[in-house]
Amino acid sequence: MAKAIVFGAKGQLGVELSSELTSRGYEVLTFPRGSLDITNAEAVEIAIAGAAPDFVYNAAAYNMVDVAEKEAATALQANALGVRNIAMACRQSDVKLVHFSTDYVFDGTLGRPYVEEDVTHPLGAYAVSKLAGELFAQAYLDDPLIVRTSGVFGPGALRTARGNFPEVMMRLAREGKPLRVVEDHVASPTYAPALATKVIELAEGGHRGIFHVGGGEPVSWFAFAKMVLDAAGLQADLQPADAREYRTAARRPKYSALENKRLATTGLAPMPPLAQTVADYMESRKAYLT
Ligand SMILES: NC(=O)c1ccc[n+]([C@@H]2O[C@H](COP(=O)([O-])OP(=O)(O)OC[C@H]3O[C@@H](n4cnc5c(N)ncnc54)[C@H](OP(=O)(O)O)[C@@H]3O)[C@@H](O)[C@H]2O)c1
Repeated sequence: MAKAIVFGAKGQLGVELSSELTSRGYEVLTFPRGSLDITNAEAVEIAIAGAAPDFVYNAAAYNMVDVAEKEAATALQANALGVRNIAMACRQSDVKLVHFSTDYVFDGTLGRPYVEEDVTHPLGAYAVSKLAGELFAQAYLDDPLIVRTSGVFGPGALRTARGNFPEVMMRLAREGKPLRVVEDHVASPTYAPALATKVIELAEGGHRGIFHVGGGEPVSWFAFAKMVLDAAGLQADLQPADAREYRTAARRPKYSALENKRLATTGLAPMPPLAQTVADYMESRKAYLT
């Protein structure tokens, strides 16, 4: 039986990776933060050497984009040095690493979806820390699989403190609050269960290097909010806004949609359409509400 370790197993993506790997017959060792902090090099080394898995999936990350501007060292500890710890341990035990990165490694000025070979230019502390994580994985390993994704939403977020964009939109709509959502920032919202399945397929197929696996459809946050509220059957006072209205601590790329260019060359099925994944999300979240 194949064996996999999942770091960040309680996050939106981690829960889906764990469940998909289990359903494929893997022995899955899950390490939520409470049992293993990836910034602890010794603990990471013991876990990986002790389990001797076939794959390590690293879905652990410090994801607080704005707070990171005040806590740059903490973001770097988790997103860069934590990845270094994992990569070093994978090298010592000859284990395949599957690591997740972000569309925020780009500055969003290109005006078209980013492909894998486009030049990176992160705009803030979170983004720099994630790019540093990619570099550490590549520095210690010849062939890590590094997956950049965008705007992840999955039902697992119903059990996390951070939540996700669809849940925030639905909560505000239910509270009858007016919603002003940016129309001039575009990303590729990505359904966590579809992402988990696709990345496991890539890993099992022996694919390595940097892959973009986004939802496949560039969409503004305003348009995505509308899709979510329509799918949920919620009426809301939803208005388009301009990013200049919101002074966030971190700069964000304006157009960070991802083109799944390399994925399209693999023979694997493309990511499912965004509208379908939003409908799937509405179904899957019900199980978390009971
Ligand atoms: N969410 C997005 O929109 C998005 C967009 C682009 C890329 N990504 C990337 O996709 C991946 C998965 O993100 P996600 O949405 O699943 O994030 P998430 O829901 O925030 O999950 C991240 C998990 O990592 C854990 N973690 C944080 N620091 C840790 C540490 N030092 N040691 C061990 N575990 C730690 C967190 O635990 P606590 O909750 O206890 O802190 C949490 O369970 C990440 O690499 C992220 O950067 C996400």
